[in-house]
Amino acid sequence: MMRACASAPGKVILFGEHFVVYDKPAIVSAIGLRAYVEAVKSDRGIVLDGWGGENPAVKASAYVTDRLGYSGGLNLRIRSSIPQSVGLGSSASVSVASAAATSLLLKGELDLELIRRAAHMGESLVHYRPSGIDTTIATYGGGGIYTRSKGFRSMSLNLDEILIINTGKARRTGDLVKRVKEFRDAHGEEFEKILEDAEGIIWEAVDALKARDLELIGRLMMRNQELLRRVGVSSKEIEDVIELCMRSGALGAKLTGAGGGGCVIAVAEDEKIPQLMEALGRRFEVMRCELMAEGVREDSFPDLP
Ligand code: MEV
Repeated sequence: MMRACASAPGKVILFGEHFVVYDKPAIVSAIGLRAYVEAVKSDRGIVLDGWGGENPAVKASAYVTDRLGYSGGLNLRIRSSIPQSVGLGSSASVSVASAAATSLLLKGELDLELIRRAAHMGESLVHYRPSGIDTTIATYGGGGIYTRSKGFRSMSLNLDEILIINTGKARRTGDLVKRVKEFRDAHGEEFEKILEDAEGIIWEAVDALKARDLELIGRLMMRNQELLRRVGVSSKEIEDVIELCMRSGALGAKLTGAGGGGCVIAVAEDEKIPQLMEALGRRFEVMRCELMAEGVREDSFPDLP
């Protein structure tokens, strides 16, 4: 094979970000935005979009070349429809797609466990103690419950779409994970209680999703947001978006991903969605995003900007 292309989806965490770093369960879904990577053999190391420095995608690809005993070089090209640094797993998707394109090019197949591990190694370069949730969902797709020590259990989320509102403020996941660690170091007992509450919300949310009880899902999102606020990862931009969502007819909203800016997700009854999108769209980028999207796959390199 002369060249190979793979794509991987972005993600939203519906419940449980940050607490998942401390081995609590989180509910996550792949979304209908994707990163694409094309790999071509070369003789000059692994180069990503003309840049030869170290980064997660190059590291993920190098992990695969090492495992497959290939010592030549690779040129990798990226295209992505996932906004960067706003909590939608863009970096993990690029790492997964890089590892997958490399595996396709060298071996002609997608070894999902190899790809997930390779992408996790890549992400460990830039994140602080990544739980593995982003790389796991970008690899396997769909939706379900992820726990650091138990891995991924897929589950139907009973929701076809979710509203994603981009506050427009980019931030670094590692910085926010460190902020939560500082909170835990300073308030150990309170943090343990927050972890317990966070886990309780997950199990209530599983039942609410099974029953497709949007009102309860919304209320649980607000409770989850309160815990995230207490550990210091909300921000003025996030709170402003949540307030606007609630004033415009949403049943609940919360930050998704690391927080500190980034994206907010919201749920609403179908008939309220147009008015919500109209109100939010005047000030923010709003996406109505497919949930339960397909995981990593062989693909053709797209004509994206
Ligand atoms: C980032 O998408 C989710 C966090 O929980 C970090 C992680 O799980 O590695 C904030």
